[in-house]
Amino acid sequence: DKMLAVELPGLTLKNPLMPASGTFGFGDTKTAQKFSLNELGALVLKTTTPTARVGNPQPQIALVPAGVMNSVGLTNPGVAAVVNDKLVKLRHQYPDLPVIGSVGGASIADYVTVAKQLSASHQVQALELNISCPNVHEGGMAFGTDPVVAAELTHAVKQVATVPVYVKLSPNVTDIVAIARAVQAAGADGISMINTVFGLHIDVNTKQPVLGAGAGGYSGAAIKPIAVRMVDQVSRAVDIPIIAMGGVETVDDVIEMYLAGADAVQVGSAHFKDALIIPHLAAQLPARLRELGYDSIEDLRQQVKAGR
Ligand code: DOR
Repeated sequence: DKMLAVELPGLTLKNPLMPASGTFGFGDTKTAQKFSLNELGALVLKTTTPTARVGNPQPQIALVPAGVMNSVGLTNPGVAAVVNDKLVKLRHQYPDLPVIGSVGGASIADYVTVAKQLSASHQVQALELNISCPNVHEGGMAFGTDPVVAAELTHAVKQVATVPVYVKLSPNVTDIVAIARAVQAAGADGISMINTVFGLHIDVNTKQPVLGAGAGGYSGAAIKPIAVRMVDQVSRAVDIPIIAMGGVETVDDVIEMYLAGADAVQVGSAHFKDALIIPHLAAQLPARLRELGYDSIEDLRQQVKAGR
C-alpha cells in the first residue's frame, strides 16, 4: 500500500510501524512467530552487548493495572551469537526485511565493538544506540542523561558504523531537548524516543516490588502523554527524523505521534494485549488517514513539518 510507505535514513519501509526493541527479540520470540514479519515496516532487534547477559533476577516483567513494568537487564546472547546465529536464521526466513540493530554496553568501547560487528555483518540497515536502559547499573541510562556523554558516545559510534545511527533517548531526564541537540551535533542520523519511565510498583499483599530487581521501566498507555510531549519538544529542536514510541495502542495514537512530529512509530507494550497489533494498525491506518483528509502518511508528515 503506497499510502503507508516511509523513507528514513537507511530504511525504505512499507509502513511506519515497527516493534520497539526487546518486543520481538531477534525475530525468534513467540510473538514474532505469530505472523509474517514482512508485514512490519522494520524489525528492531533486542539490545545487544559485546558478551552474553542473563539479565536481572526474575520476575523481569510484570503486567500491572496501569501498564507494564520491566527490569529485564539487557538479556541477550552477545554480539557474536547475534551475528553468527540469530541474524543468519532471520535472513534465511526474511531476506528483504529492514532490520535495525540495537547497540548496548557498559562503556564507550563496548558500544563501538557492537556497532562495528553489527555493521560488518551487512545484515542490519540501521543501528539504534540504546543510551537509555533504566535497568543496568553500568552503562545503560548513564549514557543518556548527560548531553556531553551522549554526544561523545554518538560520535565514537559514528566513526565505525557503516549504516545510519539512531539514538534512543531516555525520558528520565530533566532536559531531553539538550540531549537531542547534543546527539544531533555529534552526528546522529535520527532519534528514537522514548525508552521506559523509571518506576516502582509494590504489591501490597506481598509487600514486595513486583519485579525481582525492585524498580524498573514503566510503559504502556499511561506514558503516552509524556512521550507525545517529548516528541513534540524534540521535533521542534532538531532536524533529523524521529522514530516515536510510548504507549501507542491505536491508529489514532499513531497519528497523534505524527502530529507531534514523528517520522515513524514503534509499538511495545500493546503487544501484550494484541500480538498482531502492528498488522492490525497497518490495516486500519489508510482509511483513518483518508477520513482525516490526508492522502498518505507522507502527506500527514509533510503537513506537520510545514506547520512548524
Ligand atoms: O525498559 C527497558 N528494558 N529499556 C531498555 O532499554 C532495556 C530493557 C531491559 O533489557 O531492561
